[in-house]
Amino acid sequence: MKTGLNIVILTGSGISAESGIPTFRASDGTWHNHKVEDVASPEGFSRNPSLVHEFYNARRQHLLSGDVEPNAAHDALARLEREHDGDVVLITQNVDDLHERAGSTSVLHMHGELLKIRCNTCGTVFPTDQPTTIESVCDACAGVGSLRPDIVWFGEMPFHMDVIEQALSKADLFASIGTSGVVYPAAGFYQIAAAGGAETIEINLEATGSRFDETFVGRASETVPEWVDLTLS
Ligand code: OAD
Repeated sequence: MKTGLNIVILTGSGISAESGIPTFRASDGTWHNHKVEDVASPEGFSRNPSLVHEFYNARRQHLLSGDVEPNAAHDALARLEREHDGDVVLITQNVDDLHERAGSTSVLHMHGELLKIRCNTCGTVFPTDQPTTIESVCDACAGVGSLRPDIVWFGEMPFHMDVIEQALSKADLFASIGTSGVVYPAAGFYQIAAAGGAETIEINLEATGSRFDETFVGRASETVPEWVDLTLS
């Protein structure tokens, strides 16, 4: 591998599947028993905020339950960040904290985080490991019922887009890992990277199309460590 390459990685729910968190579009996926628009849109939150709080409370509780741990793919990406002699920018669509638990230090959570809440009144973002309800009180402005999950819902602008677009345009290597590539803007990241001259690769349980220069098919817990070994060698 050439030294000093800028590597940009995009991860999706496939990287956390073997850690016990269902992907979104599997038949038993994250939206199971719910309409997406009911639990992942500002309109759904206005209609029934209690349902939305309960939905994310349950996911947060599962994440913190001890049943969920980073797997070898998360570990390998943390090792890549530690050992690669160029920049490694890790963008994730996932709202879990498994990259951080594995040791990655600056993860760009473009779709937000389960372990954060935001006040709709004053905009303050808080870390949390506690359930929230429509009666929860904002620690900053004392507003009652103004807290919402710090999750990007459909129709909302993903976080960190300026930094992400800058990193993509400077990338030498772009890797898309465990994502179906159907939700924009993340689905278009490979094009921005390719337009700037990056080599593009995909690592997934199944190839999602012929958009990438190279595809590694297999379970993330096996293929990601292999790819990291190759990249560091
Ligand atoms: P999807 O459920 O759309 O896709 C998961 C991908 O992971 C699929 O292509 C699977 O084949 C692959 N996969 C499953 N298990 C795997 C494994 N063990 N190893 C490797 N790959 C595996 O989930 P995302 O692409 O993450 O957004 O979905 C993108 C966005 O759609 C989510 O962030 C969420 C959702 O709507 C928001 O909530 C804003």
